[in-house]
Amino acid sequence: MTRIFSGVKPTGHLTLGNYLGAVRRWVAVDQHAAEALFCVVDLHALTVDHDPARVRRLSRQAASLLLAAGLDPDVCTVFVQSQVDEHARLAYVLECVATDGEMRRMIQYKEKSARERARGGSVRLSLLTYPVLMAADILAYGADEVPVGDDQAQHVELTRDLAVRFNQRYGHTFVVPKAVHPQVGARVMSLQDPGSKMGKSDGDAAAGIVYLLDEPEVVRKKVMRAVTDSGHEVEYDRDAKPGVANLLDILAACTGREPAALAEDYHSYGVLKKDTAEAVVEELRPLRVRHAELCADPGYVDGVLRAGAERARGLARPRVDAAYRAIGLLPAG
Ligand code: TYM
Repeated sequence: MTRIFSGVKPTGHLTLGNYLGAVRRWVAVDQHAAEALFCVVDLHALTVDHDPARVRRLSRQAASLLLAAGLDPDVCTVFVQSQVDEHARLAYVLECVATDGEMRRMIQYKEKSARERARGGSVRLSLLTYPVLMAADILAYGADEVPVGDDQAQHVELTRDLAVRFNQRYGHTFVVPKAVHPQVGARVMSLQDPGSKMGKSDGDAAAGIVYLLDEPEVVRKKVMRAVTDSGHEVEYDRDAKPGVANLLDILAACTGREPAALAEDYHSYGVLKKDTAEAVVEELRPLRVRHAELCADPGYVDGVLRAGAERARGLARPRVDAAYRAIGLLPAG
């Protein structure tokens, strides 16, 4: 049976990009199609400056949002990464297989470390080794498929390389996984800067980011103020009209239609924005309602995570043990 693993990092509030690029597909397709695990990858949130209490809050919120979006703990496994030791345990072994050069070539590392240095800050070593921990997340479970947005493609590619290398050197241990991207919504761009991804970071960029828990009025305002392109024609052209194309992509993802076909229905940017805003508000409405219910019952969420971690541990342990043996470590007990 196919096994699926994916995760979301609690570095900020979850966004429309996370939802359309990943979570929505986990709910609609992945959890039913395979043995599936979905993880709040909190160890990854420690690779940048953070407030410990906020990471804890965001981890619980991310887990609640995954359940609110429709992940069903009776059908799939939802858990928090740090509650399952196997991730960190395997990451070290994979660090002994990965190379320094390979890590430094990662686009996200280059971008994030340059930003950090420009701010005069120092770069945590864990930011460099982050993709190895991500590889461990995936390989520990023998996942065949990793449903993610486009921005994670390079990390999954690295995961494949590490799996193949480990298997060649030390004997077959890991399944070689592949990334799976949604047809529409794999790269939702910022509403204020359609040249860059809609990320989770707060602050100046917040006007361009729709958060899943934004009030409907806030969503409408953000979409209505989206930066569009010169001219008046509504055309689906990502290079010439990135702002309009982004709105069409979002509207398409929410309505199940093709962006290029949608473009033909619109003759003004204003109407396109209005319909996109309403479509997003409607798409997120059930999730907001369910999230509010779950917030009233934190014991339920904790129980789901406890059971999820236990199940995940049981699945990961034998493969990580096998990797330890294969690479030359003395078995315990
Ligand atoms: P993260 O937390 O940045 O994002 C979670 C998922 O959302 C997708 N995504 C987007 N998709 C479309 N448009 C966007 N603007 C957008 N922003 C985010 C991401 O591609 C991702 O699928 N390194 C990962 C977390 C991770 C992971 C893993 C994922 C850790 N271990 C193992 C899969 C498997 C990350 O930072 O995702």
